[in-house]
Amino acid sequence: MSGDGGARTPLRVGVVTVSDRAAAGAYEDRSGPAVVSYLEERITCPWTPVCRVVPDERERVEAALMELADDEGCALVLTTGGTGPAPRDITPDATRAVCHTELPGFGEAMRAASRGHVPTAILSRQTAGIRGRTLVVNLPGAPRAVAECLDAVVAALPDALDLLGVARLELDPALVRAPRRHLEPDG
Ligand code: MTE
Repeated sequence: MSGDGGARTPLRVGVVTVSDRAAAGAYEDRSGPAVVSYLEERITCPWTPVCRVVPDERERVEAALMELADDEGCALVLTTGGTGPAPRDITPDATRAVCHTELPGFGEAMRAASRGHVPTAILSRQTAGIRGRTLVVNLPGAPRAVAECLDAVVAALPDALDLLGVARLELDPALVRAPRRHLEPDG
């Protein structure tokens, strides 16, 4: 495999909106599109979003994460919604259940950054993890929280995907300073 990731596959990014009301059609999903818009503004390489809307049911969230990781070949899956303390908020639990490795730094960084925006940031249990060669990251469900949280972690995403070795993520350097530290196979 070349050091520049030449053997990698085209980038696919899963976006999972976790919301009972959006899944039932009672409510327009604005959070999933907010994730896609955020990425469209920053990703400079070819990529394909693969979007799903599921209710706040653990089996459904787990199934969507497994489908996007295992069948759709997404290198990155971003969830939005279901991270809070309400009884039906189960996205972080579903994420942990399908991931073999948790990356708690993502949740820590997003909560820390979010405290500057809303005092309720500490209510989010959002986390991140790795399933096979897929990085899964939880975002809260409020549309404005999507950008607030992604701003806190987006610079780490290219290097994280380099380490997983599936697809290469290129971000606009004018918008995101994202140093790559693990481009070499043994680096
Ligand atoms: N983080 C940011 N950046 N912006 C927000 O508006 N909302 C908070 C928190 N984190 C919020 C945020 C609130 S009010 C809740 S209840 C939790 O995220 C969980 O939201 P969720 O259940 O929609 O995932």
